[in-house]
Amino acid sequence: MAATGAARSWLGSGAGQLALVGTVVLAEPAGRGRPPSPDVIELTSVADDGAVFHDGLKVLHRDELAPDTEHTCDGVTFRTLARPPGARLATIATVNDVHFGETECGVIEGLELGPVFSVEPGAMPYPEVMNRAAVAEIAALGADAVVVKGDLTRDGTDDEYAAFLDCYRALGDALHHVRGNHDAYRGQTYASDAPFSVELDGVRLAVLDTVRPFHENGQVRADQLAWLDDYASARDDRPILVFGHHHVWAPGSKSREATYFGINPDDSERLVELVARRPAVVGYFAGHTHRNRVRRFAATGDVPWVEVACVKDFPGAWAEYRVFEGGILQVFHRISTPDALAWTELTRHMFAGTYEAYAMGTLADRSFAFGLSPEKPA
Ligand SMILES: [Fe+2]
Repeated sequence: MAATGAARSWLGSGAGQLALVGTVVLAEPAGRGRPPSPDVIELTSVADDGAVFHDGLKVLHRDELAPDTEHTCDGVTFRTLARPPGARLATIATVNDVHFGETECGVIEGLELGPVFSVEPGAMPYPEVMNRAAVAEIAALGADAVVVKGDLTRDGTDDEYAAFLDCYRALGDALHHVRGNHDAYRGQTYASDAPFSVELDGVRLAVLDTVRPFHENGQVRADQLAWLDDYASARDDRPILVFGHHHVWAPGSKSREATYFGINPDDSERLVELVARRPAVVGYFAGHTHRNRVRRFAATGDVPWVEVACVKDFPGAWAEYRVFEGGILQVFHRISTPDALAWTELTRHMFAGTYEAYAMGTLADRSFAFGLSPEKPA
């Protein structure tokens, strides 16, 4: 799927012909949708001490595995992540594209790819199903900080924002959030108090506001960049993780349109250049594209430029960061309550069947190490 097309889908409004099918509303042509479950068991995530598989609506945890070791479980051979050296210092969780208020899933404005999904009148809205499950899973993790990085709502209404806060306030003081494009299409200003930092043992978080009010695509304003540059220049041994809603344009890309659907090319180059000369910044973490993806750019070496898939539909994602003295692991999680899996299996094959591979990415896009400090004691 072309990335631009996928991103535009989050703006959609029309759904075409609707026909009631079971507990969901399917827009025709329903026949284009593939079966709602994969044929094979999926290795969803690996960590330094375990792995998670999904088999349709079933979730299988394999725990207490040795790090950096080849294992075979359920016929699938994989390698656990190497555990960075030193003590475990902090745990962070992140989500994005939670979209409270959305009622139609799978719409691309101006295209009739299908299938489009909704829930029956009176049923719990799917953003509530997915986000309540995400919050429960993250609360059980006991994270030191949780960053919600934009597209809190469908249309930025007060009611949608209140629904977001109502759901996520269960995370208490650990919760930090910033807006995305969907939260500011009409010039709304809530959740716009970034940049701000979060200070934790062993790690610092820098949260940027990448929104261009009234627009889908993003920016990093000069004041945001100057703040980050100043923050990253401080004498401090802790690495910095930078969070923002929009992903960057890849430096050197053949196409350089100012309307690029992430952060515009000029601002992307400035942000990449800043990260290149501020070694304290060890990763940039975005949402917006509703996909798992990691890119690395020549100017910034091993620094991952990360996108995490959305909460609201397939695969139903959140990510965990395990901070050690000598490095950090991103561990992907697929929201796995029965209701959440039922919804995300249904939405797996949206956009004429292209969504599954696009949104899920590869295992290396989902679970990986970064910010490794070889000089730290093992
Ligand atoms: Fe977005």
